[in-house]
Amino acid sequence: MSVHDPAALLDLAAEAAERSYSPYSKFRVGAAIVTADGTVITGANIENAAYGASVCAETNAITTAAGQGHRGVDTVAVICLDGDLCTPCGNCRQVMREFGVQTVVLREKDGAPRSVPLTELLPESFGPEALD
Ligand code: THU
Repeated sequence: MSVHDPAALLDLAAEAAERSYSPYSKFRVGAAIVTADGTVITGANIENAAYGASVCAETNAITTAAGQGHRGVDTVAVICLDGDLCTPCGNCRQVMREFGVQTVVLREKDGAPRSVPLTELLPESFGPEALD
């Protein structure tokens, strides 16, 4: 599969969502990301009995990539298994912004992939260059 194929990325995100640890919300989310060098990394939401310590799928995948040394992420595909359309939360949008995400791939209710520029999801955003 090509890492640039949105449908294939969503399939990987769905596989990751199967590994979600979400006993509290019972809302399984998965993400598959493509880094600047083409590496694909996945993540799922991991909840905690202290709810605020929970981690979203997108942030899980991006921070995993960052921990492996990646500093650029091109694409994030996100999917939820227990709802119709899963758009990233505000915190995850900001995490995406930090690592230069260009495109977010969502799955529409009918299963079709939809690619959205991050600038549309997070307009007039604050980013690292503001601190240069
Ligand atoms: N969740 C994500 O993983 N990503 C999002 O962008 C939205 C919400 C998770 C957090 C929590 O485990 C569950 O979905 C319900 O909010």
